[in-house]
Amino acid sequence: MATGARENHREDVAGRANVEDTPELLAYYDELEQLEAGALWTVANKIEPWQPKSSSVPVVWRYEDLRKHVLRSVELVSAEKAGRRVIYLNNPGRREHAAAVGWLYSGLQVMHPGEVASAHAHSASALRFIMEGKGAYTIVDGHKMTLGANDFVLTPNGTWHEHGVSADGTPCIWQDGLDIPLVNCLEANFYAVHPNMQQAVGYPVDDMTQTWGNPGLRPAGAEWSKGYSPLLKYEWGPTYEALQRYAKATDGSPFDGVLMNYVNPVTGGPVMQTIGASMQMLRPGEATRAHRHTGSFIYQVAKGRGHSIIDGKRFDWNERDIFCVPAWAWHEHVNGSNGDDACLFTFNDLPVMHSLGLYREEALGDNGGRQPLAA
Ligand SMILES: [Fe+2]
Ligand SMILES: [Fe+2]
Repeated sequence: MATGARENHREDVAGRANVEDTPELLAYYDELEQLEAGALWTVANKIEPWQPKSSSVPVVWRYEDLRKHVLRSVELVSAEKAGRRVIYLNNPGRREHAAAVGWLYSGLQVMHPGEVASAHAHSASALRFIMEGKGAYTIVDGHKMTLGANDFVLTPNGTWHEHGVSADGTPCIWQDGLDIPLVNCLEANFYAVHPNMQQAVGYPVDDMTQTWGNPGLRPAGAEWSKGYSPLLKYEWGPTYEALQRYAKATDGSPFDGVLMNYVNPVTGGPVMQTIGASMQMLRPGEATRAHRHTGSFIYQVAKGRGHSIIDGKRFDWNERDIFCVPAWAWHEHVNGSNGDDACLFTFNDLPVMHSLGLYREEALGDNGGRQPLAA
């Protein structure tokens, strides 16, 4: 018996599916459904859109609004009971996947001095970007790293890792970025708690920075063949200095200003197999041109203030705010100061786009590369 309420995504365009429903076809579709099958032409135009259709929406998460709630979580739950005491960013279009944008997760984690989170490992790749506080540290496979504001640290796929704040530190907040939604979508996620709950530090503190973090120099005899960068921590000081030095030698990108990618020093490629990251500087008064590309992006304002126009809508941001740009959304950035630079940290799924041959990019040609603002 035909239901009459069946999906049929018709398009009146040559080469696209355009089959009208008839009583006979509706009955046929019902018979196929009984066999856990269906007629492709009823859904083809939906599952193969002309261009990427992101279900994520652009969002700014203002630190001013979120910070007090993040701090309050310390009174409400212990780090021990929560496992990880994190307030995650939930994109209205991606709630089903607990994603901040696309297949990327983001959350704000808080720890007080003397607190230690249990050591664990997972198939998702992770990073943290330090927002405030003193005394934070991360241990990755026995390598302990001390962390300060705007430092960026990796906890790659499969590594044992844990975080804490030293007893003489201050309350610390950082952004966690992971590809949990992607790894779950691929049905490949494993999670393990360390058998001893904590891991031993097996190397001198900050040894990977001392070994691999020297510009243009590769340590003699040091071997590294893992799929992620051995430079597990990227400090703010040298990163900002590099942007300032590069700014003297380049006009920058019309779309991104002065941008440098964080890389694996062994390969020159992305820091991890699934997540890429960069820091960009918008010079005083700089307003970039709009472009769009595949790949989902989470930005964190490391320095300064300004706004971005995403799919025709203006989003103002201040230092520490986080915002997202969904795949294939037009975007341009504006530094709100004529006297100081603004810096945006980004993490994204570009390594996935590039390694799967899915990267596409397009510049906005109209209106001098600037989007008209939607009413
Ligand atoms: Fe983790
Ligand atoms: Fe972009």
